[in-house]
Amino acid sequence: MAAKAVFILNGPNLNLLGQREPEIYGRTSLADIETATKARAKELGFCVDFRQSNTEGTLVDWVQEADTKGMGLIINPGAYTHTSIALLDALKAASIPKIELHLSNIHAREAFRQQSVTAGGVDGIIAGFGAPGYRFALEALKSLVESRST
Ligand code: DQA
Repeated sequence: MAAKAVFILNGPNLNLLGQREPEIYGRTSLADIETATKARAKELGFCVDFRQSNTEGTLVDWVQEADTKGMGLIINPGAYTHTSIALLDALKAASIPKIELHLSNIHAREAFRQQSVTAGGVDGIIAGFGAPGYRFALEALKSLVESRST
């Protein structure tokens, strides 16, 4: 049987990384982040299912899918971080290890970004490290997986 994947889910507008407000989000495209993240995943012994959607319901479906088919979840919910009770509920219902990730330090930005609605449904949060944050999230996930299996 194939090893279960780590699902890495990206929310709205993250398909525009590289062009979108580069002074905040950097110049690395989502495709380049995917390549670098998969390379690090390989070193850590993970396989990765990397996805992006601009649609809230699709992200909810994918969180549910990750819980049944995956071995862990890393999610950058984009702007849904600050609004989506549906995503919070989906995350709370999922029992796999879960990490919320942000490229920017949302706590140092506008007041409306400083609250994460979704963070209450995850094990931990990584924010403010730009594109390398995806690799750090994988390392954090590995530590979560190991601590659950000991
Ligand atoms: C983001 C932060 C959110 O506030 C914003 O809406 C995004 C990206 C980040 O990765 O820093 O789309 O999640």
